Amino acid sequence: MYRTHTCGELRLSDAGKEVMLAGWVQRIRKFGKMTFVDLRDRYGITQLVFQEKLNAQLDAQPINREYVIQVSGKVVERSSKNPQLPTGDIELVVQHYEVLNPAKTPPFTIEEETDGGEDLRMKYRFLDLRRPSLQRNLLLRYQASRAVREYLDQQGFVEIETPFLIKSTPEGARDFVVPSRMNPHQFYALPQSPQTFKQLLMVSGFDRYYQLVRCFRDEDLRADRQPEFTQIDCEMSFVTQEDVLQVFEGMMRYVFRKVAGIALPDPFPRMSWDEAMWRYGNDKPDLRFDMPLHNLKVRNTSYCEGIAHTGFAVFDQAETILALVVPDAAGYTRKQLDELTAWVKRPQIGMQGLLYVRYQPDGLLKSSADKYLSQQLLQQIQQFCGAQPGDLILLLAGREDKTRKAAAELRLEMGSRLGLRSREVFKPLWVVDFPLFEYSEEDALPGSAGRWVARHHPFTAPKPEHIPLMINHSPIIPPGTDYQDHPFAQIKANAYDMVINGQEVGGGSIRIFRRDLQEKMFAALGLSAEEARQKFGFLLGAFEYGAPPHGGIAFGFDRLCAILGGSDTIRDFIAFPKNNAGRDMMLDAPSPLDEAQLKELHICLRK
Ligand code: AMO
Repeated sequence: MYRTHTCGELRLSDAGKEVMLAGWVQRIRKFGKMTFVDLRDRYGITQLVFQEKLNAQLDAQPINREYVIQVSGKVVERSSKNPQLPTGDIELVVQHYEVLNPAKTPPFTIEEETDGGEDLRMKYRFLDLRRPSLQRNLLLRYQASRAVREYLDQQGFVEIETPFLIKSTPEGARDFVVPSRMNPHQFYALPQSPQTFKQLLMVSGFDRYYQLVRCFRDEDLRADRQPEFTQIDCEMSFVTQEDVLQVFEGMMRYVFRKVAGIALPDPFPRMSWDEAMWRYGNDKPDLRFDMPLHNLKVRNTSYCEGIAHTGFAVFDQAETILALVVPDAAGYTRKQLDELTAWVKRPQIGMQGLLYVRYQPDGLLKSSADKYLSQQLLQQIQQFCGAQPGDLILLLAGREDKTRKAAAELRLEMGSRLGLRSREVFKPLWVVDFPLFEYSEEDALPGSAGRWVARHHPFTAPKPEHIPLMINHSPIIPPGTDYQDHPFAQIKANAYDMVINGQEVGGGSIRIFRRDLQEKMFAALGLSAEEARQKFGFLLGAFEYGAPPHGGIAFGFDRLCAILGGSDTIRDFIAFPKNNAGRDMMLDAPSPLDEAQLKELHICLRK
């Protein structure tokens, strides 16, 4: 037997007991003839005392940091208690100890706050995972997955696995591919999501499907993206959008309550995609604070009086002018404002500059372009934005998409600077009525100024009332015309995203379930009938054998865990993640294949 208790278990009521513990040496302190050792396992830390006799033995049989040891002895009440530790009222007076395995000195300290840099910790991930914060994160992940399964089970969902070695699924990223030894010169693709399979399961009649499933996407990585990540993937038959939203906001409420004791609102607020873009500049607004954008002028339509002709070239030449009112920030110093201006000029934001108007507590309006802007105009702007004395108005001008994006980023930045984005506040939101298509300049169709791509994926159904717009018009955008005036730009879908604190945690849609409409959709995306048959013939075929109306959603499970755990980085909630270059630093993968393996796979590398 190795142990009678764990390192997090013993309390004052155990005083006097003879016990055995096993674990890792966290810390050693010598005091004269005594040695104190903190022994750690995943349950906690217990203080061990090596008194005189055993202390001498430590010279002959030493222990060190991260040694795995087993000890036996007696639990005693501590004279100086440690209220920080659940076991802090007691210590174990060691009568016998054994080194089960010595350890090399770890390359970084294994404590809550470590001195190891990211790469080093990734290389020794098995050591990093001994740290209490990462252990807590993975336990939270486990609790969250249990809660998800409990809820979906109660709702009659069935978990069904789908294959990993498949054919490309279009989710907007590049595929990871796997060569086939048995089928020379042919490749599988790893699923970007089980999208088509879950739809086929609906055709099979499973009615309510879910899967906690790994997805693979070869895309540029960020703090909230990994090349392989986990989805809570779901699909339901005979449902409307309303049914799906109900079931899944219920799931979120259940998971938050179960895992974190947090009550999310019932129902979740909803916002149309149009409103989200107009008010917040992006489709995943962070509603922990308001600070909406003010649309003074948008695509050359003026909404604020006086803004159409100001005599100020920056404004008059701008297609769009947006403002933000930062409460109580009129006192920002010149230096702070210069710094903000530099912030919007960074290449990631890419604006030419930032104008500001201070609404001084004495009622005066002072702007950074006083030379060009009349008091009257400043007043019109102030009134349009509803600014109060003491507020700071920030103005951005330029082309609409760029300016809106920049204003959205600036809003978030100001929210952070003002401390309005607490990790302890959770603001969920459904964004609904997404556009069906998105315009792309790349890969223009012949004779067209660009092409239409699926905003969500090609299986998403247009809103029934918008179907005529899709089937009665060609996808060609006549050169010289604005894509925003093309009928496809008006088509909305029953597609929805769940957003929490400005992060997209999930997205889904009601699907096309009839072959004719799906074929029209492929045609709208510029796929020839032959290409559609080649890529998605299996799905089109299945739709001819009685496909029920269906819809679903998938959540980013890693993101959900990170939000629950109050972190921005999903890596901290994945046991063995990849770094930003997509590398596994511990395994040193990806890595070259040897010649023999390549030959077996019929692969010849290009120099
Ligand atoms: P979508 O592509 O929106 O939808 O993905 C669903 C959710 O998965 C998460 N996510 C990611 N998380 C970590 N790393 C990534 N690289 C990554 N990419 C996406 C996001 C996102 O909201 N088949 C559809 C769903 C459906 O229509 O039912 C799909 O995959 O949180």
